[in-house]
Amino acid sequence: MTQRKIRKAVLPVAGLGTRFLPATKAVPKEMLTVVDRPIIQYVVDEARAAGIEHIVFVTGRNKHVIEDHFDIAYELEDTLRARKKQGALDLLDAIRPSPGSTSFTRQQEPLGLGHAIWCARDLVGNEPFAVLLPDMVMKSDPGCLSQMVSVYEETGGNVVSVEAVPEDQTHNYGIVEVDGDPQAATFSITGMVEKPAPGTAPSNLFINGRYILQPEIFTLLENQEVGAGGEIQLTDAMLALMARQRFTGLRFDGETYDCGSKSGFLAANIAFALENEELAGELRPLLGDILKL
Ligand code: UTP
Repeated sequence: MTQRKIRKAVLPVAGLGTRFLPATKAVPKEMLTVVDRPIIQYVVDEARAAGIEHIVFVTGRNKHVIEDHFDIAYELEDTLRARKKQGALDLLDAIRPSPGSTSFTRQQEPLGLGHAIWCARDLVGNEPFAVLLPDMVMKSDPGCLSQMVSVYEETGGNVVSVEAVPEDQTHNYGIVEVDGDPQAATFSITGMVEKPAPGTAPSNLFINGRYILQPEIFTLLENQEVGAGGEIQLTDAMLALMARQRFTGLRFDGETYDCGSKSGFLAANIAFALENEELAGELRPLLGDILKL
């Protein structure tokens, strides 16, 4: 069956990043660096590789530096041109989205992920779209959203990427309930719960921050009550939509680094650095020395 193409992605970047204070007092969490690129760059690259044509950033106060990152930096680029630093100019060219392919809207108060997504309703319009949480950085080939788009082309409806997490960590995440073999590559999702109390999780599969959603989610988010943690939760709206529409779970084939947590962020830095041959050569002995201590 031919499905409507996923052309737009929403990246909610309006959170306060309190787990990284004081680093995030003036610098958005999404601009913290993994090796040599801000976290958000990895996620934008993943979206573009999956065929996304337009990215909607839901931002907040103190986040203007994200807009600057994806814009032309005239002074810097003029100086690089004068100094004939073509390599650096090419790098900046490669990361700049084409004109008109990004939009920025503000979530005036961080009322929760569900509310942030709802803020993008007019910019997305009446078409299926992707959501990528920018603090979840994935390492895989093809990218996580590309894997999901392949599933969506077969199934249509809504698609959620999931990954196994140790049982004692399920209370930190949104966890799905599945129908069918949870070890399979894809399955039907029949329920989900945000941060379940220890021992009550319906599975060990957590939602790793990538979603393909139908536009009806916006109507459900419109009148959404606050849920877990006193926030308007996307999970609650998805649960309501599940009563009417199909949700397919994809077991993501790759690694997820939760860069919203300090340990995940540090692990991402090490993992991506070790992928770079030159850097890995310098880093391995240093890591070896630290681990011996
Ligand atoms: P998190 O809860 O992980 O991010 O939300 P946070 O609130 O910024 O982090 P901590 O817990 O205080 O350290 C996941 C994603 O959703 C966005 C965040 O920016 C993050 O990318 N978000 C969250 C919003 O855009 N608005 C919100 O109201 C909440």
